[in-house]
Amino acid sequence: MRPFISLTAAMASSIAVCRLHMRGRGSLATCLQRVDTFLLRSIGTNVAAAQTEAPRKDEADEKDGRKSLYAVQAERQEQAERSVLISCPSRTSEKKILKYLSRHGDIKKYFSYESYGTYAVVEFAKWESVASILEGAAIPSASHESMVPFKSRLLSLRNLGPADSNQQSSQQSQPQTTIPINELIERLSREESIAQQITSLTEAYQLTEENSRLRFLVCSLLQDIATAYFPECTIRPFGSSVNGFGKLGCDLDMILDLDSISGRNIKMPKAGLSLEYQMKRANSERAVTQSILSVIGTCVDQFGPGCVGVQKILNARCPLVRFAHQPSGFQCDLTANNRVAIKSTELLYLYGELDPRVRSLVFTVRCWARAHGITSSIPGAWITNFSLTVMVLFFLQRRSPPIIPTLDHLRDLAGPADKSVIEGNDCTFVSDFSKIQLQSNTETLEQLLCEFFEFYATFAFTKMSINIRKGKEQNKPEVTPLHIQNPFETSLNVSKNVNATQLDRFVALCQESSWLLQQSETVSPAGRPTPWGLATLLLPSQIAGIKSRKKRKREAASERIKGLLESLKNKNQQKS
Ligand code: CTP
Ligand code: MG
Repeated sequence: MRPFISLTAAMASSIAVCRLHMRGRGSLATCLQRVDTFLLRSIGTNVAAAQTEAPRKDEADEKDGRKSLYAVQAERQEQAERSVLISCPSRTSEKKILKYLSRHGDIKKYFSYESYGTYAVVEFAKWESVASILEGAAIPSASHESMVPFKSRLLSLRNLGPADSNQQSSQQSQPQTTIPINELIERLSREESIAQQITSLTEAYQLTEENSRLRFLVCSLLQDIATAYFPECTIRPFGSSVNGFGKLGCDLDMILDLDSISGRNIKMPKAGLSLEYQMKRANSERAVTQSILSVIGTCVDQFGPGCVGVQKILNARCPLVRFAHQPSGFQCDLTANNRVAIKSTELLYLYGELDPRVRSLVFTVRCWARAHGITSSIPGAWITNFSLTVMVLFFLQRRSPPIIPTLDHLRDLAGPADKSVIEGNDCTFVSDFSKIQLQSNTETLEQLLCEFFEFYATFAFTKMSINIRKGKEQNKPEVTPLHIQNPFETSLNVSKNVNATQLDRFVALCQESSWLLQQSETVSPAGRPTPWGLATLLLPSQIAGIKSRKKRKREAASERIKGLLESLKNKNQQKS
């Protein structure tokens, strides 16, 4: 699928939007700029696609049923551009809403969800329908408050007619958060094997099709704000929203991508006249990123409908703007110029696509870690989900035979078009799935989970560093409790924040969970409603029980030693 609609369609829709702008506040210049911008964006993206798409073999990826992240993102972005987000009145039937909205054109996808009220995502078949719906929308009357005159694709549907009778909530709402842990434990307890429990957990936790669409739509809505300053920019999700390891309710990491402006340059002719832009200079690239994020952050704060609690965290290693997007319920982190993170997102996605056991194991370990407070949504000395994911990948590389290849091997398989060096860091790795030959490892998910806990229960954390580039532990280059080498910025430690207490807790939990799994039945005990297998591992009280059992064991051992010493003493006394 092409990343953008055809040029003629793009022109038509831009013109439709221009009409809208001219009626509202825009001048002819604004209008022309928008047409121009839209064309530039369409052409720009297509040029960029042409440069990278052919060698990336998207078609080849799709042939064996796997799409590259690049292809998935292009499709989702294009869907998002044809979509609007609408707050809907409760007690209005879906049928009625659909009938009303379809006056603007064919609807390709519709779903609703709850977040501070009922919201609907409406994807039209054509972009013109979005222009038409915006043209028909009214400005809210401001009786007490003043309105910021910023129009966006976030709308409210009003129903001044009678509410639909006998309809409490007439919409089939799609859940956007995970089921509570006790419900999950109940569900897992009903499964027949530990392997099935792992699969069931993955299905319950992973992002749904709808949630993924909503994430791209939020990026697209924010892009509409950012393009007021940088018409060619794009805002794209990265991290767990797109790397295949995202859990419902995870944060939305976004990158403001200005590469289409600064990265794609026209070659200056060697002789004759030519033009170049006059541009303001700054001290460093970091300073440019900070000032861009600062301005966009202010815009999001002051003009962005539904964006609340905006915080500019510009002095962080990776400057960002953090805010909550209320209509979607997402906690958002907007960064810029964070290209290495895009590469690590692509790498994680690739690993997740190579073998279904990768994702299942990552989900299970992430869920287990969250249930026991090993990870947290609050920043601190905890192990992060990203670190935990790298730890699972490393473990899978250490199996015999390995389940996934090392990053060095993926780099060796790369073609010329995969070459990527970002700020001096080699980020090259193969993108063509068909070039990657996997070894035949037949271990079950149950074995792998048990072995994972065993592996980290006995790992030499004091001396060794986890390294997915080499697929082998390396001597630690620095004294930190946990050292996980950043796959691309190899001098950095991904888990620098983790303190000794948190690492000790992780190791102790691995020991206890490994012990617990070994004691557990491997298939569902017939007719028993109590948690078993993986479900037991997610019960904090159960682990606490194990702790006290262990404590009791330790106490018993020290009692035995005490007794032994006593008897030796007595013997010695008898001898003398
Ligand atoms: N990242 C990185 N180096 C780090 C931390 C993060 O390269 N030290 C990149 C990774 O690509 C990561 C992304 O930034 O996936 C987003 O970071 P974060 O939100 O912390 O992790 P997620 O993978 O998104 O996991 P979560 O579901 O907890 O948000
Ligand atoms: Mg994240």
